[in-house]
Amino acid sequence: MVMRIVDLRSDTVTRPTDAMREAMASAEVDDDVLGYDPTARRLEEEMAKIMGKEAALFVPSGTMGNLICVMVHCDVRGSEVILGDTCHIHVYENGGISTIGGVHPKTIKNEEDGTMDLVAIEGAIRDPKGSTFYPSTRLICLENTHANSGGRCLSAEYTDRVGEIAKRHGLKLHIDGARIFNASVALGVSVHRLVKAADSVSVCLSKGLGAPIGSVIVGSQSFIEKAKTLRKTLGGGMRQIGVLCAAALVALQENLPKLQSDHKKTKLLAEGLNKMKGIRVNVEAMETNMIFMDMEDGSRLTAEKLRKSLTEHGILVIPENSSRIRMVIHHQITTSDVHYTLSCLQQAVQTIQEPCQN
Ligand SMILES: Cc1ncc(COP(=O)(O)O)c(C=O)c1O
Repeated sequence: MVMRIVDLRSDTVTRPTDAMREAMASAEVDDDVLGYDPTARRLEEEMAKIMGKEAALFVPSGTMGNLICVMVHCDVRGSEVILGDTCHIHVYENGGISTIGGVHPKTIKNEEDGTMDLVAIEGAIRDPKGSTFYPSTRLICLENTHANSGGRCLSAEYTDRVGEIAKRHGLKLHIDGARIFNASVALGVSVHRLVKAADSVSVCLSKGLGAPIGSVIVGSQSFIEKAKTLRKTLGGGMRQIGVLCAAALVALQENLPKLQSDHKKTKLLAEGLNKMKGIRVNVEAMETNMIFMDMEDGSRLTAEKLRKSLTEHGILVIPENSSRIRMVIHHQITTSDVHYTLSCLQQAVQTIQEPCQN
């Protein structure tokens, strides 16, 4: 029987801490759809302040946060949004901006570092004179950290330059900041500086921050007013959400200071993995809490064989494809868990590569 569980599937798998559960049990609550939940107000005010924006709104998920932001910015049917071809909004959100929002996606290649080429972004903006044929560009979306690039950070300077392009063409800039706090800690730059050029940001409370549920979107007062109406339309208006917001307030206080240590553990794991025969990790590119571990061609290793072997030791991971596994560090992974994972993996790699001959 496996005694130890090391859950590296995602940073969304964390369990609420005792402090969170206590805060949830004693949270002051009221009807948030009517606008009276005091704990929700407190979280929204704090998030707006941290992010340097006028107002904030609690939403059930990052997906709904992104959808609401895109739809508020693109409130005219036939709008187009410029976004990365591997970004979360485009790949993993069921095409909601199109199917629900009526917004057309114009994708630009995401580079290995999660950026999009600035010339390509500007070149993708539709000429307003061609409106008989083209949708109208209204929005650019960035993702920071960029999950499909392995949690790479977009710098404040890069974001500013995209913001300048948006401004020059009368467009808005939205940031999917599901893990913007990880970016802030890794870059040593405050979150409000990182998102200064953005008109809206969606921040997940249930990823690196380790709260059980929810996201917050931030923007101007008038933007958040419209977002609130849309949240209700989409079924995201909830009543006594103070119980959820109380846990998020604890996460901000207790887990934000742990992100640096999460990133250190990620490096430790990445460096250890990279020393194993048949395994390749681009250690330099592991900037925050994610690791992509690749199996070299001809090594006999496959993602599924390794996943199976790790599972037998209580280590949970998700293969990205047949030769890549993604691992994500969060506040409930200890340094000892990292060493345990390395030793189990070393064993698994040896067993798969040097099977017993008799
Ligand atoms: C970068 C990014 N954006 C948005 C989301 C969506 O968040 P949710 O799962 O809360 O809908 C995720 C989820 O993992 C994500 O990684």
